[in-house]
Amino acid sequence: MNDYLQGLTAAVDRELLSGIDPRRGTLEAAMHYALTVSGKRLRPLLFLALLDACGKEALRHIGLASALEIIHTYSLIHDDLPAMDDDDLRRGMPTVHRKFNEAVALLAGDTLLTFAFEKIAAAHLPPVEVVAVMRIVTGCIGKEGMALGQALDLEFSGRADVIATIHRLKTAELIRGALQAAGVVAGFDRRRQKIAGKAGIALGLGFQLADDLLDVAGDEKLAGKKLHKDKDNRSPNAVLYFGLETVREMIDSRYREAQGFIDELGISFPPFLALTKGMLYRSH
Ligand code: IPE
Ligand code: IPE
Ligand code: MG
Ligand code: MG
Ligand code: MG
Repeated sequence: MNDYLQGLTAAVDRELLSGIDPRRGTLEAAMHYALTVSGKRLRPLLFLALLDACGKEALRHIGLASALEIIHTYSLIHDDLPAMDDDDLRRGMPTVHRKFNEAVALLAGDTLLTFAFEKIAAAHLPPVEVVAVMRIVTGCIGKEGMALGQALDLEFSGRADVIATIHRLKTAELIRGALQAAGVVAGFDRRRQKIAGKAGIALGLGFQLADDLLDVAGDEKLAGKKLHKDKDNRSPNAVLYFGLETVREMIDSRYREAQGFIDELGISFPPFLALTKGMLYRSH
């Protein structure tokens, strides 16, 4: 990762913990734990790097950026619960329900989601833009977005033709949200916001394909989570249905598609391009 992205990651990591005091009790201790364990921070990085690419002062919007990571973290806490994917390890550390317990993990997830909206409401933006960002974010994570995707993932019955829809909903929608929200803050018109959204969907689809690929062929130490388990969970893992080679080609095609939209936006900021490429071609 280059210095620019490392600097942004450090800023996101600091911001994530602001306003959370683990000494206040178990709930905040669990929220704090989940946010301290370090992840790739891709959603806030996408948001911030797109702002920088558009000549905006990205760090002024670090609160908003962190809200995207907080939402993602809530989704992972719940995704790992025994009732969902039943995982013991996340980001190289025990999952929240293993470190604390299931009830605490449920509540920490719920409270992180709420906390994210406190941060969005406090964004340094005119109220009309705050509302626009809220509409984008609620749209991409709710009953027509990530939450629906997770529900369909659990109900998956082995039909290969629904895999792309599940991937779009559970993963690509939040990535769309990150880029579209950045578009609002950067003053994009409707047309450009839509293009940013399409870039987000293509990147998100490629990103989930890469996650599926790593589950089958990745290195567990690098991943920081248990791999080779989608098979047992009857998961909509594309590799199990289309094979490794086809999935690699699908990733290439999503990359080209995303790159086309990014070109259409006229964005050539190297760190943004490196970030988007690294999301699809990664080792963890
Ligand atoms: C994992 O997300 C879950 C998916 C949506 C594929 P990340 O791969 O972004 O996980 P972290 O945040 O880096 O741990
Ligand atoms: C998780 O997908 C998607 C969300 C958390 C919304 P996965 O279940 O494939 O993610 P990992 O492999 O546990 O990180
Ligand atoms: Mg899952
Ligand atoms: Mg999972
Ligand atoms: Mg996975």
